[in-house]
Amino acid sequence: MSEQPSGPAPGSARHAATTRERVSRLRELRKRAVQGDELATERQHAKGKLTARQRLEHLLDSGSFMELDLFRRRTAGADPAGPPTDGVVTGSGTVHGRRVFAYAQDFRVLGGSLGEVHAAKIHKVMDLALAAGAPLVALNDSGGARIQEGVTALAGYGGIFRRNVRASGVIPQISVVLGPCAGGAAYSPALTDFTFMVRDTSYMFVTGPDVIRTVTGESVTHEELGGADVHATTSGVAAFVYDDEAACLDDVRYLISLLPSNSHDVPPLRETGDPPDRRCPRLADIVPADPKISYDVRAVIEEIADQGEFLEVHEEWAGGMVCALARLGGRTVGILASQPVVRAGVLDIDTSQKGARFVQMCDAFGIPLVTLVDVPGFLPGVEQEHHGIIRHGAKLLYAYCDATVPRVQVILRKAYGGAYIVMDSRSIGADLSFAWPTNEIAVMGADAAVSVIHRRELAAAAEPDRLRSRLSAQYADELMHPFYAPERGLVDDVIDPADTRLVVVRALELLSEKRPDLVPRKHGNPPA
Ligand code: HXC
Repeated sequence: MSEQPSGPAPGSARHAATTRERVSRLRELRKRAVQGDELATERQHAKGKLTARQRLEHLLDSGSFMELDLFRRRTAGADPAGPPTDGVVTGSGTVHGRRVFAYAQDFRVLGGSLGEVHAAKIHKVMDLALAAGAPLVALNDSGGARIQEGVTALAGYGGIFRRNVRASGVIPQISVVLGPCAGGAAYSPALTDFTFMVRDTSYMFVTGPDVIRTVTGESVTHEELGGADVHATTSGVAAFVYDDEAACLDDVRYLISLLPSNSHDVPPLRETGDPPDRRCPRLADIVPADPKISYDVRAVIEEIADQGEFLEVHEEWAGGMVCALARLGGRTVGILASQPVVRAGVLDIDTSQKGARFVQMCDAFGIPLVTLVDVPGFLPGVEQEHHGIIRHGAKLLYAYCDATVPRVQVILRKAYGGAYIVMDSRSIGADLSFAWPTNEIAVMGADAAVSVIHRRELAAAAEPDRLRSRLSAQYADELMHPFYAPERGLVDDVIDPADTRLVVVRALELLSEKRPDLVPRKHGNPPA
């Protein structure tokens, strides 16, 4: 683009142009800069992708976008000067009437690659988001570091990472990957609170298929290596995946509606039209009393959440635990729930990591935690031990112990051993704990307990099976009855399952003014 967007030099003939003429010229230049290259737009659409501006239009409330740095471009050392925007559209708008800041990489311009000016524009909008205390949404679609700009491009990424970390836990940061996001670029989404991806058009990896083929000899496609499904099911990198960009951006809007603007703000309270004291009699049918019979805990969440609505994070990864944002009595809550249909809801490395990150996010943004417990323990196995279940399980424990938001535990059925402690027991700081009459809280299941403490008698018995079943029943009666923990103050009340919603809503109400009691320190040293 040879035409200079800036005005003529004072004293030149054009300097005499009237204000109206200048405004008209400004409009023309703005139109051209916004429109971009038609062929490149067609190529973008042919891939099933929207352009950067179409994405921002979809994300933000209609007409609310205020663009910054439209005319900014590479001038120093560039001949001719680079295109306006330098491949990234930045600015601010509103989502459901609330302020957000956003940047959208424009793959049509230099492949959305990140050079010095591109990075400086992103840095500016990140700084503004933090200063204004408003969420930041990054729409990624880029060939990565601009190869022609060498180390300056790399330094640009460094500036993004540093700002991601500085803003972490202060403003919500949402990454939406809508095209390539490779190399070090993938670390910005990894540092933010949530990563969204779209099937078939987005991919993320640190080293691509070509390098992998050269180094390890493995042959793999972009999609197989780092497509949306892989990151949603296997790596846990993507929290949300969609079939198309419109559905993806709709859910980004929904997520923002659940979050506070910053950590000093309270999450938005919304009138949902669902009575806070609504009883849930269906719960008694959804959850069978027999602890060996499975059920989908999402049906429980649906029953108690306002209007049955919730947004599940990492729906397809680490399925033994469900983490979801929902509203209860109009208040945003983070729900963690053991999922009996996936490996009986045991805690393992992945579920511990998923839960820990979710607890940290909720705690940072003042979102109360509701934990639904039906957990048989930690997953036994050499593979789990050798891959560090101690270290990873400790992350969940640490995150709960560290959380100062209101915390309510509800024990539906079993809660055994270390997993009982970790799933927000009163002993690690839950403010209130409730249990259904079907609760079984113990060091371990009755059969396993009897095998340990009566090993010699069982070995010597003429009829060991009969003895085992008598001793198991006796153990269960004495130590696992539903009032054992309540009698010791470790559970605050035994409730009718039908009252779960109204009890939790009341509990959150009475904890709403809870203030954190923090030990002065620079920061803790959580297990990694
Ligand atoms: C400069 C780039 C570019 C880049 C793409 N383009 N990536 N220009 N630097 N990194 C340009 C292309 O030259 C092309 O320009 C236009 O963008 C569109 O690219 P295509 O290749 O035609 O698009 P497509 O076929 O869709 O392929 C997309 C792609 C490919 C897979 C992303 O462009 C590609 O492999 N790019 C290089 C990726 C890369 O190695 N990046 C560096 C990663 S390392 P024209 O003028 O022809 O339209 C990294 C380190 C970060 O990012 C470290 C941070 C700590």
